[in-house]
Amino acid sequence: MSTAESQTVPSEIVRKHKEFLFPAVATYYQEPLALVRGEGAYVWDDAGRRYLDCFGGVLTVSVGHANPKVNEAIIEQIKALQHTSTLYATGPQGDLAEKLYQITPGRLKKSFFSNSGTEADDTAVTAAKLHTGRHEIVVLRHSYSGRSAMALSAAGHSTWRPLPAQVSGIVHARAPYCYRCPYKLTYPECGLACAEDIEDVIRTTTTGEIAAFMAEPVLGVGGFIVPPPGYFERAVEIARQHGGLFIADEVQTAWGRTGDKWFGIEHWSVEPDIITSAKGMANGVPVGMTIATPEVADSFPGMTFSTFGGNPVSMAAALAVIKVIEEEDLKRNAATTGAYLRERLEGLKEKYAVVGDVRGLGLMQGIEMVKDRETKEPYPQGVLKVFEETKRRGVLIGKGGLYSNVIRTGMMLNSTKDQVDELVQALDAGLATV
Ligand SMILES: Cc1ncc(COP(=O)(O)O)c(C=O)c1O
Repeated sequence: MSTAESQTVPSEIVRKHKEFLFPAVATYYQEPLALVRGEGAYVWDDAGRRYLDCFGGVLTVSVGHANPKVNEAIIEQIKALQHTSTLYATGPQGDLAEKLYQITPGRLKKSFFSNSGTEADDTAVTAAKLHTGRHEIVVLRHSYSGRSAMALSAAGHSTWRPLPAQVSGIVHARAPYCYRCPYKLTYPECGLACAEDIEDVIRTTTTGEIAAFMAEPVLGVGGFIVPPPGYFERAVEIARQHGGLFIADEVQTAWGRTGDKWFGIEHWSVEPDIITSAKGMANGVPVGMTIATPEVADSFPGMTFSTFGGNPVSMAAALAVIKVIEEEDLKRNAATTGAYLRERLEGLKEKYAVVGDVRGLGLMQGIEMVKDRETKEPYPQGVLKVFEETKRRGVLIGKGGLYSNVIRTGMMLNSTKDQVDELVQALDAGLATV
């Protein structure tokens, strides 16, 4: 691969971004990157430099940039019928909904399509309120659900909340964040105190009866926090004892990302009443999905509508992505290549004291950086240094976590071990600069 040198000529694309977009539309890197082309696992910037894309536009380009099979499905659909709105039935929408019924766990059957993860979560919360006749929702600290008024009120990060909560009735339970256990306990002696907190939060901060417990199987924006075994079984049991449904927010964790399973929640023995997703579902074509059990979907009164929801091109792209994952056995690849990546990242933890924790599932793997392993003081400045060096070496990574001290990787589901080596080499060089 080509080695990318740091950009010297100010990019015209970046200049316009800075001048004409909301400054809140943050970019990575000291000198923001302007991307102009993507193919497979690689992207190219406006100076012609190539990068191994290990973040996929935030776990969204799931089967490679410009995947020929997905592109072909998109092009064929554009030629046939590009837009209808949800007022008309279309073949791709029905086919996708049927396929989702077949591959989602439990009794999930009926779908509503929208344009983003935010809308998917909003739809799920509304459906849960309508079905139960209750209004309060339990979410997790360190969670993220998007940028609507509801989602911002649910955000478990002050950094993602530009305003105080605008939607009432959303309460936040402790996150199952073992590395920084809010109770300073250790699994399994902790007795899943974080799950028990849901009971406490419901009894102390709600009317005692809730509409839903909504959680990400792996907290993505929160820094790839993986709940311990048994967490969801107990958390969902408590939610149901208080009349609540369970909404699994699979915006990041679906489509084989966590290895071997279509959905991240399948790593625990619980059946969601609603699953939401978006991101990797259509390889970058805008789409949001809310799938519910028949009784939950049936409680949503008419009329409801989405102009772009169920767009035939998005539906065709999503169907093609699912087909690629099946035909190329990518859930398995996410498990095996993910395991290899994990092993290599653990190697970096042995080598560098600033690597406090390595965690994730499948091809959703992260590194939490700390200044000191004893105090666990977050090291966001270290992450910035790793970012600059990996970029210089032609590798793109992501970050997250409340303290911006978690390096997140979301390689394509069809990644190879050689590409993992390329990523790890760049991370190794980046960590050496810290
Ligand atoms: C878990 C989760 N839910 C919801 C969302 C919101 O999705 P979108 O940005 O498509 O609105 C995100 C976005 O990062 C997410 O990670």
